[in-house]
Amino acid sequence: MQKYQIPTAEYESFTEADKAVEYIKRKGAPIVVKASGLAAGKGVIVAQTEAEAVEAVEIIMKDEKFGDAGEKVVVEEFLEGEEATILAFCDGQTVVPMIASQDHKPAYDGGKGPNTGGMGAYAPAPVVTEQIKADFKTEIMEPTLKALQSEGLEFKGIIYFGLMIKDGKAKVLEYNVRFGDPEAQVVLPLLETDLVDVMEAVIEGNLDQLEIHWKQQKALCVVMASGGYPIEYEKGKKITGIKAAEAEEDIIVFQAGTSLENGKLLTDGGRVLAVTALGSSFQEVIDKAYAGVEKIDFADFQIRNDIGQKALEK
Ligand SMILES: Nc1ncnc2c1ncn2[C@@H]1O[C@H](COP(=O)(O)OP(=O)(O)O)[C@@H](O)[C@H]1O
Ligand SMILES: [Mg+2]
Repeated sequence: MQKYQIPTAEYESFTEADKAVEYIKRKGAPIVVKASGLAAGKGVIVAQTEAEAVEAVEIIMKDEKFGDAGEKVVVEEFLEGEEATILAFCDGQTVVPMIASQDHKPAYDGGKGPNTGGMGAYAPAPVVTEQIKADFKTEIMEPTLKALQSEGLEFKGIIYFGLMIKDGKAKVLEYNVRFGDPEAQVVLPLLETDLVDVMEAVIEGNLDQLEIHWKQQKALCVVMASGGYPIEYEKGKKITGIKAAEAEEDIIVFQAGTSLENGKLLTDGGRVLAVTALGSSFQEVIDKAYAGVEKIDFADFQIRNDIGQKALEK
């Protein structure tokens, strides 16, 4: 991102713990420490104090469980603001953004508690204004494609832009190269064009010739997780009510952590399922999604009760 002047957090990377600690002391907290490499979603520590950041460096560099990912740490400027996601289709030559969405990462209401894979999402995200969308295209999305091409990478697939938005400006927090949940669970239901047609255009490299249409609606999903998630939770609880929930118009129940045993649907993970509702206003989709949740049951399930509140406020 630095090389191609794509807006992101200021950072430095280190292979020696001492140097990282020195940098942390110089920059002060809050500050972000990242393991450089794959770390099963546990590689980012947003440290509120210097002590916490120093401890994070030690844990990442000394703990065996980080393996190769712990050989290098990235120490990064803490970006304030509101997070949003823009997924994009890319055929190597053309990149087309999807509707912006917003996830709810912390486990508990009000954005409290440990970070999760996501407890709910909505789209379109009001925080991503027309101006931000326009700037995103010219300052982030197009330069990203140019960067890929300059590096000799013909990427065909989905680019996930994780953004931090503050004062009307977006900076890139991360890229993923896939649809991400739960965002995809609110973005894809709004896609009017057949996804197969889009993916074929991605593969064949003629995305520039396809017009992609979106429903003029809102979508919101509430994740039903296992009690105790993301720390400690049990699996194997019987799930009921999915059919009843889906009997309502505009409700889709996506399954993630489930398994089918002898014809019985059981929980089999932290984030078990997501109840997505479509409608014409955020209030409507909030009401519909939570009504869907009411119909579904498994022992000790855990949800956030405030999915979509930020969108309502806007
Ligand atoms: N520079 C930063 N400033 C503030 N928060 C950050 C920063 N980098 C990461 N985060 C927070 O940490 C979360 C996880 O970081 P991310 O880069 O998305 O890692 P992962 O690959 O685990 O998803 C982000 O969603 C964001 O909330
Ligand atoms: Mg992330």
